[in-house]
Amino acid sequence: MARWAYVNGRYLPHAQATVHVEDRGFQFADGVYEVVTILDGHFADLNGHMERLGRSLAELRMDWPAAPRVVERILRELARRNGLVNGSIYLQITRGVAPRDFKFPANTKPTLVMTAKRVAAFAKPEQLEQGVAVVTVPDIRWGRRDIKTVGLLAPVLAKQQAAESGAYEAWLVDTDGTVTEGSSSNAWIVTRGGVLVTRPPSHTILNGITRLSLLRLATERGIPVEERPFTVEEALSAGEAFVSSAGTFALPVTRIDGRPVGDGKPGAVTMALRQAYLVYAKGSTAG
Ligand code: PDD
Repeated sequence: MARWAYVNGRYLPHAQATVHVEDRGFQFADGVYEVVTILDGHFADLNGHMERLGRSLAELRMDWPAAPRVVERILRELARRNGLVNGSIYLQITRGVAPRDFKFPANTKPTLVMTAKRVAAFAKPEQLEQGVAVVTVPDIRWGRRDIKTVGLLAPVLAKQQAAESGAYEAWLVDTDGTVTEGSSSNAWIVTRGGVLVTRPPSHTILNGITRLSLLRLATERGIPVEERPFTVEEALSAGEAFVSSAGTFALPVTRIDGRPVGDGKPGAVTMALRQAYLVYAKGSTAG
């Protein structure tokens, strides 16, 4: 099936979908984005992603390119045109096209682009059977990580370092030694006492939509939860660790910087939460 993208009012063949050379997203990373997963034909946590998009826009004093319900309708239509059953929609809004000047341009329409991606399997069998490895790197990002901006150079460098080390993800470590989050995921541990631990929302992390749903699902299941920072050492002595994001859901982490977490195998709490999320996401929002 042909691949379609959306650019400022038009559905276009993917290869012809382009933006202007003076788009502020291109020149200043002056834009925000969301990644929404489609799981067996259902949009996972779509409301949460739309809400966070509105928050990101507001924090940067950027306008919606159209009413939120219209943007949502375009997203659904792009998924339909691409025949997406399992995959994701990438949605980006920038402050628009204007002659290069740092301050906000006057009367510029925001740019809205969306692309669609098909996914054969959200996780490889060995990632679920053995877990994935992470490496730790210093968190060199800016001070407003709660806004989902397209300024992603630090995560690009971190993920590249992880890949070159044979790891799946990089865990970003603050100057105080605590793990903030992954380069494109939230970071979690389960203590040997069975307590689920993840960093509380603040300017230091992106408050993941998957994270919020996992916290709710854990609470519903009577799993004790502590929202607090944890160090790399604590993670290494924990029973389990995992990452969460749209598309990875909850993915077990079994090695940190080459050292095993717990017994070196995916943990029971992690896998139960992954399963709970999959069931929830498939049932929560009609496709
Ligand atoms: N990234 N933290 C960071 C820094 C992220 O980039 C992401 C998501 C998350 C998890 O958020 P959510 O559960 O809402 O997907 C946490 C997306 C998937 C990306 O950039 O591709």
